Amino acid sequence: MEITEKALFDALSKVIEPDLKKDIVELDLVKDVTIDERTITVIVEVSNPAMHSRKRMEEAVKFQLKQAFGDDVKVKVSVRPISGERGGLRKVLPFVKHVVAVASGKGGVGKSTITANLAAGLAQRGLKVGLVDADIYGPSMPLMFDVQKERPRVKQLDGKNVIVPVESYGVQLLSIGFFADPSQAIAWRGPMASKALDQLFKDADWGELDIMLVDMPPGTGDIHLQLVQAVPLSGAIIVSTPQPVALIDARKGVSLFQMDALKVPVLGIVENMSWFATEEALKGRRLQDIPEGERQYIFGKHGAKALAEELNVACMAEVPLVQSIREAADVGRPAILQGDTPAAQAFQPMLDAMERILAGLGDGPKKTVDPAHEMLVK
Ligand SMILES: Nc1ncnc2c1ncn2[C@@H]1O[C@H](COP(=O)(O)OP(=O)(O)O)[C@@H](O)[C@H]1O
Ligand SMILES: [Mg+2]
Repeated sequence: MEITEKALFDALSKVIEPDLKKDIVELDLVKDVTIDERTITVIVEVSNPAMHSRKRMEEAVKFQLKQAFGDDVKVKVSVRPISGERGGLRKVLPFVKHVVAVASGKGGVGKSTITANLAAGLAQRGLKVGLVDADIYGPSMPLMFDVQKERPRVKQLDGKNVIVPVESYGVQLLSIGFFADPSQAIAWRGPMASKALDQLFKDADWGELDIMLVDMPPGTGDIHLQLVQAVPLSGAIIVSTPQPVALIDARKGVSLFQMDALKVPVLGIVENMSWFATEEALKGRRLQDIPEGERQYIFGKHGAKALAEELNVACMAEVPLVQSIREAADVGRPAILQGDTPAAQAFQPMLDAMERILAGLGDGPKKTVDPAHEMLVK
């Protein structure tokens, strides 16, 4: 069959974009076609930049063109992520300078405690801070920010219903916990959880923010991949204890962000529960004055620091295990807000490091070095 442009577009209109569920011609994703005798060259865009999704698109295009014009045609397909505004994401969070994920690999290492203190501390230092509690397995921000009983309002914005984040200690907060019964184990199936998470980013009125922190669920499953793809991340912070098992999982967390199709930069490592001192030992002293001999390295020593060196990123802080940090979390007022207590002092180096990192990122989201993935980390 003769290859005309009309016949070519007819054939291409049989290819459906898997995420957007419409054909690629209708979606205007066919960016260029050239016909040279029996060779067809096509440039197509896809919404999901992952390798497997680009591969699938390539195969679908080849299949339809060979169906239409015969097996003898040579088809060259170049598939690239939807260009421009990261598939529309910057339109969704257009006034958020940086979205930073906080991840851990392993649960229980203090990821949420670190995130809560980071958020409250940066807000105290005058930044406009948003916080998304995306931990579908154990949302803890409503408790840590003492807003368990609150429910976000819904308002109209440009004719659309949007969720209004709850404000606490100067932090704009949305948690998956606001939308699920806390007594109920959140055993959502993937698609439902993904949809709910998506809405926290896209259907909320975040307004203008210097930084949006995302408390990620522990682990590295599908939900993580989806989150990392759906949100325009400037980078990720990894929280780990110095314990070898936690570090193994932290490395898995790192590799999630550094996957080829994602390339989200790891900005720094926070070591939590680095050492322990009793309340007795801390009493009336400054944290940095606690001598080495009184610091108990119960989970091992400097493990996360070694990981940071290995990855060539900042070890942002070594936060000790302090009883009043736990107590502050449980009463819903992050320890960083206590003034100049040892518990608050524990987080100051982390805040200093975060400010340096933000200064390094500049005003706009970080540009990637890899133009093929421009869409994700622009
Ligand atoms: N540096 C710390 N000092 C004292 N308690 C801590 C510290 N970090 C975390 N905790 C406590 O450890 C428990 C687990 O912390 P959490 O932040 O919920 O971990 P994750 O989010 O990683 O599951 C909580 O009870 C929390 O209060
Ligand atoms: Mg948590």
